[in-house]
Amino acid sequence: MCGIVGYIGPQNAVPFLIEGLKRLEYRGYDSAGIAVCQADGSLSVRKQVGRLSNLEESLDAEPLSGSPGIGHTRWATHGEPSTLNSHPHLDCSGRVAVVHNGIIENYLSLRADLEAKGHVFQSQTDTEVLPHLIEEILKPGGKSHVEAIREALRLAKGAYALGIVFQGETDAFYAARCGSPLIIGVGDGEQFIASDVPAILNRVKKVIYLNDGEVAELRPSGVTLTRLDGTPTAVVVQEVTLRAEAAERAGFETFMLKEIYEQPRVLRALLDTHVDKNGAVRLDEDAEALLAAEMPDIQRILVLSCGTAYYAGMYGRLLFERWVGIPSETDLGSEFRYREPRLPEHTLVIAVSQSGETADTLASVRLARTMGCKVLSICNVAGSTLLRESDAALPTQAGPEIGVASTKAFTAQLMAFVLLTIRMARLRGIMSEARERELTAELARIPNAIHRVLERQADIRAISQKYYECYNALYLGRRFNYPIALEGALKNKEISYQHAEGYAAGEMKHGPIALINEFLPVVCLCTPTADEVYDKMISNLKEVEARKGRIIAVVTERDDKARAFAQDVIPVPETIEEYSSIVNVIVLQLFAYHNAKARGADIDKPRNLAKSVTVE
Ligand code: G6P
Repeated sequence: MCGIVGYIGPQNAVPFLIEGLKRLEYRGYDSAGIAVCQADGSLSVRKQVGRLSNLEESLDAEPLSGSPGIGHTRWATHGEPSTLNSHPHLDCSGRVAVVHNGIIENYLSLRADLEAKGHVFQSQTDTEVLPHLIEEILKPGGKSHVEAIREALRLAKGAYALGIVFQGETDAFYAARCGSPLIIGVGDGEQFIASDVPAILNRVKKVIYLNDGEVAELRPSGVTLTRLDGTPTAVVVQEVTLRAEAAERAGFETFMLKEIYEQPRVLRALLDTHVDKNGAVRLDEDAEALLAAEMPDIQRILVLSCGTAYYAGMYGRLLFERWVGIPSETDLGSEFRYREPRLPEHTLVIAVSQSGETADTLASVRLARTMGCKVLSICNVAGSTLLRESDAALPTQAGPEIGVASTKAFTAQLMAFVLLTIRMARLRGIMSEARERELTAELARIPNAIHRVLERQADIRAISQKYYECYNALYLGRRFNYPIALEGALKNKEISYQHAEGYAAGEMKHGPIALINEFLPVVCLCTPTADEVYDKMISNLKEVEARKGRIIAVVTERDDKARAFAQDVIPVPETIEEYSSIVNVIVLQLFAYHNAKARGADIDKPRNLAKSVTVE
């Protein structure tokens, strides 16, 4: 999910490149870079790892100016975040600069061919093959820049949105698209490119939506489009009708969808904050201090929360018992505060809340405190009441969540539980350093796994189209996927108003099985393949199949058993059972989202709901 921008015209490109990249930073911020053709025709590249502000600082210290220029903000897929792997990428002679969003799938074989011809590569990225390929095609002479680009793209397989500038060419630059988004902003004597409309919204009101397989040649005076075989295509200029509010949504049709897409970045940031380069977990100072003081005595853990955060708590409880080996329970804030609870001495309370303002959660935490409990809160909002009243915090740092239905805050809560329980297990001395490393290494793969699920959005939408008119839906899961079944059903109810029930799959026979007929979609979470509850899930699928229920199975990519029973399957990347919840819930978020959309609901503001329930 990288972002790209470009400019050609009478102005200095750099201010726009920075402004546009700022608006695209939600697409990734592992690194940022620009390439500018200066007035004398020389090509200058500047890149910095980390936030865009690092690049800005470098440009403040040593300004660049010129036109055309291209820019990039990176969400690393191939090659770690580093200066060398940052875009723009250059050919050997530094005459072609390329920014790219997407993946060139056959880059290894292209790279091997080019290396055999003497090309020397600087990075581990797939992108770098493109400038080298263009350079190689231009070598014999006689071909124009746009011809070389088209030829290179005929050889490259995969997805791309590209911006390309050449040394010495101050009156043109190029863009191309196949599978990744790219638009052209049409100005008066100037042209822009960007990954989405909001990036250029305050510069132009006319855009060209580039189609897959088109190459654009942009000159201050206008744009020409050709297909990869060189045939010209019509330029269709459209008026932009987006309002400022949409800009905040960064081009997404709703905040919820934007927040669903932010999850890989949010989780990676959480990991970066708490996992060091040796794969060891470290929490913030206050949490470390609390655990150091309390760990030797803790007899019990009580997780308190409401709504979606309660399901995160159910997940956390499983981890406390499995990894930390401490008896744990979870309760709803609204129940705990009225149930005359009896807490053993040395009960540690973990409160979970996106807002930190939910009245029932706060009341139950206050009650637990009167009983002498220490409180550690997993919370998203800095400065919230909950954080102020807690002994320590594990901030989920997911950023503002505007969509009423919680998405990124939930997955951040799940990951926070993983980090917390690994740390507690280490402090208790029941988890080895090697095991911690293994678990954090696997955890680091989750943002990419989510990214892969997001790429299946169109398939998930297509499946939801078959079922959105049903009156009811049933969601089934076991153990680590039981809270996810509950959350999936809740998401669906909240935003689509389709009645849905989440159930522990083993409990189906005690009631919900009576509901099953050919009109009931049954969403079954059947991952991972390699654990003992998988076979139990298969038995549940058989029971649903025998009663003609319509099975939608979330399976691992290599699954071959569950598929056989399902009308529809959604394959997801395999991970360990404990992390499968974080991957599977993304499918259910998108499924609920498209159900709601098909049913015409107001997704960001579902009826009767509030983001933060500060009343009882
Ligand atoms: C409301 C929201 C839910 C949220 C719940 C708990 O019902 O609509 O999305 O899960 O409150 O909120 P909290 O801020 O405590 O996580």
